Amino acid sequence: MNERGAKVNPCRTMANLADSAPRFWRLCRAPLSYAPMEPSIYEFPDIFRRVHMEQPGEIERETEFMQMVWRRHLKRPLRRVLDIACGNSPHGQILARAGIEVAGIDRSPTMIGAGRRESSGLDHMRFYRRRIESFRLSEDQFDAAFFMSETFPVMTTNADLMSHFKSVARLLRPGGLYCIDIDRHDGVELLRTRKLWRRRMVRVGQARVMVREYHRPIVWYEAMHSIYELECTIRFPDRTVVTRDLIPVRYMIPPLMELAARASGCFEMIAAYSDLSFTKPLELCYGRWMAVLQRARS
Ligand SMILES: C[S@@+](CC[C@H](N)C(=O)[O-])C[C@H]1O[C@@H](n2cnc3c(N)ncnc32)[C@H](O)[C@@H]1O
Repeated sequence: MNERGAKVNPCRTMANLADSAPRFWRLCRAPLSYAPMEPSIYEFPDIFRRVHMEQPGEIERETEFMQMVWRRHLKRPLRRVLDIACGNSPHGQILARAGIEVAGIDRSPTMIGAGRRESSGLDHMRFYRRRIESFRLSEDQFDAAFFMSETFPVMTTNADLMSHFKSVARLLRPGGLYCIDIDRHDGVELLRTRKLWRRRMVRVGQARVMVREYHRPIVWYEAMHSIYELECTIRFPDRTVVTRDLIPVRYMIPPLMELAARASGCFEMIAAYSDLSFTKPLELCYGRWMAVLQRARS
């Protein structure tokens, strides 16, 4: 049953559960605060890709795999796609160049600005500044949506997950597909103190970037895998900037995605693929997996 349906909707129960959660639950949620003046790495679109260790050709491989997924599961030509948390929409730019209509949503004006500049000659590409948790657009009837770069788990509450699914479903045609790229979540380690995970130096043009990644403590009652903190000290020739991003990561594995999709009442998970492969079993998944959800037909 879709989100407009009158029948009993499993998503109602789950969404209501989160919406009507006891007050103490909200009050004692783990605080995710950081110094208000510290900028985000997304203020520096050219630098963030290098910081995230993106490999040459990775975006192209991901886009190609999504196109294979659409050919396999969509059963009709794909004309219009929605890129969620698009940033500068590198996948969308490839698709728009191939003649597909692309709309991207993201909350960062800097990332969207970079995307608009890079795609300025493309008629098929539009960007909207929206939050992924709940959004509406003036256009709809997309054949597919996708959420790349393993960012989906930043939605940690059930309420956000449900309103996100409803927002995406509203914009998709019945039977439309939603591909979600998620990193493989290993065992959860409950930390008591902030812990340095990795550090490395990256050069981007004239800038030298010291990247430090931390894990921060989580509390047992959150559905979190970890809280990831990314600190970048960027030394430009004339100034130094320190960026800090705190990224909560919901524990998200295939059966939980299947449950959440079904709870939304708008989606069914129809496949889960490992490492951009149709044949590699989940047991052998090395780094990431892709959930393929299908929007309810009625
Ligand atoms: C790692 S980047 C990925 C960008 C793009 N999808 C790609 O593959 O290159 C993550 C993006 O998610 C966006 N983002 C994170 N949280 C968001 C939220 N709550 N609402 C909207 N955008 C969000 C950031 O602004 C950023 O552009």
